[in-house]
Amino acid sequence: MERFRRTRLNSQLRALVRETHVGVNDFIYPLFVRPGEGIKTEVASMPGVFQMSLDEILKECELLQSLGIHSIILFGIPEVKDSVGSDALCDHGIIATAVRAIKRAFPKMFVVTDLCFCEYTDHGHCGILDHVHETVDNDLTLGISAQQALVHARAGADMIAPSGMMDGIITTLRDALDGGGYVNLPIMSYSTKFASGYYGPFRDVAESVPSFGDRSTYQMDPANRREAIRESLVDEAQGADILMVKPALAYLDIIRDIREASSLPLAVYNVSGEYAMLKHAGAAGLIDYNRVMMETMVGFKRAGADIIISYHAKEVAALLS
Ligand code: PBG
Ligand code: ZN
Repeated sequence: MERFRRTRLNSQLRALVRETHVGVNDFIYPLFVRPGEGIKTEVASMPGVFQMSLDEILKECELLQSLGIHSIILFGIPEVKDSVGSDALCDHGIIATAVRAIKRAFPKMFVVTDLCFCEYTDHGHCGILDHVHETVDNDLTLGISAQQALVHARAGADMIAPSGMMDGIITTLRDALDGGGYVNLPIMSYSTKFASGYYGPFRDVAESVPSFGDRSTYQMDPANRREAIRESLVDEAQGADILMVKPALAYLDIIRDIREASSLPLAVYNVSGEYAMLKHAGAAGLIDYNRVMMETMVGFKRAGADIIISYHAKEVAALLS
């Protein structure tokens, strides 16, 4: 008889035979920066997640480093929004200002910038609208995305992460960055991103709910597996340095598929709705929060992820130390 229990007898042996490991170096922590001073507003749907003014963001970076977290992804909430997202195209906009200040105070903090327009447009879509205002005009949006990438690069971003699901975005950004002399600035593509109900709480914190319609003309149909693999492989062919699957929990099969189809590093985005589910279930006493959280993180790694972008990162780091 095969006696599996032999290697489960005690914790030392279980550690020796463990196949998958979660470490603090696997994580990127999302931060939301808004104008002002002394502002730290908790998001009702996401306990423990805040919109912060830059002074508070700097304090948070200090805390993150003390926890061993050295990578962040930045989202901006601008003072004013307009039809093209001008704040994101300006060297003194919210993100450019924040990146410069963070890199000055914490040169070793690895700062990833989310490149999209939904937080900056008054209509809340991820780019410029087409002439009938029905959906995002892909090719017009490519043009301003190149401008946004250069704003991030000049501010000192360490990696650019386009999240708008525009076709041709990686070629466009690579050309723009290379042309600007940023040949060594990596691109982490939100390469396989589904149109998902799990983004609900994020749109509260980022104030980016579309004013009409939804994002299903540019984000992927959750039902499509073959297309999910093609989306990532096309971004690899265009020069992406890191691929991503988003959301994570309902898409573990896609993580595994892309892990096997590509040899690039692979990130997963453990999104706002996934975080909110565990948080609220834990607060209601329905689950052992820490245990379920760690089980979830192991699941991402086991499915094939190298990098986990997660609102849980600070709690994971505290547990691991
Ligand atoms: C912007 C963007 C979104 C997220 C990351 N970048 C929201 C969206 O596409 O609506 C989602 C993150 C989350 O839910 O935690 N394009
Ligand atoms: Zn967007």
